[in-house]
Amino acid sequence: MPEDHKQNPDHANGAALDRRQFVKIGATSLGVAGLGACVFGFRYLSPNVLYEPSPIVSVGRPERYTVGSVTLDPRFGVFVVRAAEGFYALSAVCTHLGCLSTWKADAGVIACPCHGSTFRRDGATIAGPAPAPLPWLKMWLGDDGYLVVDRSTTLPPHSEYVQAETHG
Ligand code: FES
Repeated sequence: MPEDHKQNPDHANGAALDRRQFVKIGATSLGVAGLGACVFGFRYLSPNVLYEPSPIVSVGRPERYTVGSVTLDPRFGVFVVRAAEGFYALSAVCTHLGCLSTWKADAGVIACPCHGSTFRRDGATIAGPAPAPLPWLKMWLGDDGYLVVDRSTTLPPHSEYVQAETHG
């Protein structure tokens, strides 16, 4: 073999070059593979969950609502109702196909714009196709004096009213 190098130095340089290129290509390939493994490893280790907003929401101070009002909070899809008995919250999500219903003050009803269901201010169904009333949602007065609604907890209608001191 060493005699071959002496006989053909170009061939020996070419072989050395090939080795260097081979090592370079190999190192580059390993680097790319390692980077790919890191990316996929990070993706694999990160939790595969959907981050949904909390069902517990603050709907403001009680003073904001006048007696007899039905107020849609479109941010959270809830109605805040201030009745003579106190405050309560209703889901504004229509029980037919999930459209956001609105309060029609002139008619005194909650109406769904999609297929025409109507509800009383306590959520009871007046006209379909909604198959069920709008559910009452758990509500309480937080330590900070704000009304809080838990959209994941329903209550039997008329079972709880929140009492809050207001000046309005
Ligand atoms: S979604 Fe409300 S009536 Fe159909």
